[in-house]
Amino acid sequence: MRVGEKRKVEVQGSEILLIYLGGERYFAFDNKCPHLGCDLSKYGVLIREELVCQCHFSHFSVKDGRPLKGASKRPIRVYRVEVEGDKLILNPVDGKPSQ
Ligand code: FES
Repeated sequence: MRVGEKRKVEVQGSEILLIYLGGERYFAFDNKCPHLGCDLSKYGVLIREELVCQCHFSHFSVKDGRPLKGASKRPIRVYRVEVEGDKLILNPVDGKPSQ
């Protein structure tokens, strides 16, 4: 992937939004906005530490998916991404804030 690229991928039947920031830095989220379901591979942008859905401007923490401002009161699922050779391993991050 190119640096800054976002891509919709399917993992075990779920659509995941993958964003690549260079090196081994990836972010991954559910691709569907928890507000009204916009496709985040089209309407999602990463702004510093926040994933923003441009449909109604909900902001989510990239660390734990908490809604920070905007329309959504529900969190988005965030995945921790580990790189193993040419594979990416995704694990959901639970709702607790990480340090
Ligand atoms: S659908 Fe994403 S903010 Fe409304």
